[in-house]
Amino acid sequence: MHCEEVLAERIAREAGTPAFVYSAAVIRDRYRKLDAALAGVPHRIHYSLKANSNRGILTLLRELGSGVDVVSGGELFRALHAGFGAQDIIFGGVGKTAKELSEALQAGIKMINVESEAELLLLDRIAGEQGVQAPVGLRINPEVAVATRHEYIATGAKGHKFGIPYEEAAAVIATAVSLRHVAVVGLDMHVGSQLQSFEPYRHGIERLASLASQARALGAPLKYVDIGGGLPVAYGDGDADPDLEAWQRVVIPAVREIGAELLVEPGRFFAAASGVLLARVLYRKKSGGKDYVICDAGMTELLRPSHYDAYHFIETAGDRAGRARVDVVGPVCESGDFLALDREMEDAQPGDLLVIHTAGAYGYVMSSTYNSRARAAEVMVDGHRFAVVTAREHYEDLVRLEHEDPDWRDA
Ligand code: LLP
Repeated sequence: MHCEEVLAERIAREAGTPAFVYSAAVIRDRYRKLDAALAGVPHRIHYSLKANSNRGILTLLRELGSGVDVVSGGELFRALHAGFGAQDIIFGGVGKTAKELSEALQAGIKMINVESEAELLLLDRIAGEQGVQAPVGLRINPEVAVATRHEYIATGAKGHKFGIPYEEAAAVIATAVSLRHVAVVGLDMHVGSQLQSFEPYRHGIERLASLASQARALGAPLKYVDIGGGLPVAYGDGDADPDLEAWQRVVIPAVREIGAELLVEPGRFFAAASGVLLARVLYRKKSGGKDYVICDAGMTELLRPSHYDAYHFIETAGDRAGRARVDVVGPVCESGDFLALDREMEDAQPGDLLVIHTAGAYGYVMSSTYNSRARAAEVMVDGHRFAVVTAREHYEDLVRLEHEDPDWRDA
């Protein structure tokens, strides 16, 4: 088994396991395809950093011409650190702090997507203090029907915590337009992730279009319509990669009608298929009629199976003729620590290298050090070359922030 032209086993031997491996070719290919699909309208891709904020991937996307979408001060820091210009950055998220808003204004980023009236008023005040005008996108919850693979990744239906509720949108737009230190430059939505149909995009953009005319009538200098991320990818259990032509037919005419630059915030679409997780099989064990493959990666590296019931295709890097029905589990002391349940796959034996597919998005970024497990290494492959782009954590990293001699204060 190869990752591009490099033997998976070679990477595992040199970088150790567990390790995430990302293909530069996949990212380049997907970026070019998506960019081409949107060629009919003025647009900008703002890669959603939350899917994978690895420096190697950020550098690659920056070189391809991508901007980024960040959702925290930490992600803003990472984006700037990876060399993105302020005008390449948009900032979203339902709970930005005053400090984060202030940092975004100081950096002079392209747009801050605001999710409530309270946040809008706070931003206006901070911008006033800084003597600047905040470029605001109003994130609207279009309250459309959204089908995703798991309820946790739907965001644009009525009652979700994200965005300004649709029935309040017109009033909040009017407030925003009246504020002195805010310029309403965009309208924004993100209806969900791993979307099973494009209808939510269609309905959502229609709703943004009617709000856009209202905003313009009030004098808003609207420049952008941001339709969020959410493109699905094939994980191997029946879901398919998106039909970009069909997506284009939904998105382009609707956006053209609004007459603003289209912004998109895909994360998974670029990162998921570019990455695999390599893990080593430690033991086999039978218990209560179950057949376990115990490996050195688990929920601490890839939370998606246990948190969203997500499917990731798993195979061995070598050749194993036999097949077995197994639970693939990790070493973490939790019954919920698994990568696959009741899975028919190759009869993996101790020492075998497991390749867990489509793990590039929401993998490493959601990993934890639970059970004091040091975080995995991240490796980038580009043709015949590969490099460790994030070192494996050491035990010392686990205690780095702890004070041996805490500074006790009196009440
Ligand atoms: N924009 C906003 C405002 C978002 O909230 C998200 C994802 C994206 C863009 C990027 O969505 P994408 O293109 O990747 O679907 N951890 C979950 C996914 C959570 C998505 C959160 N928001 C998972 O592993 O499936």
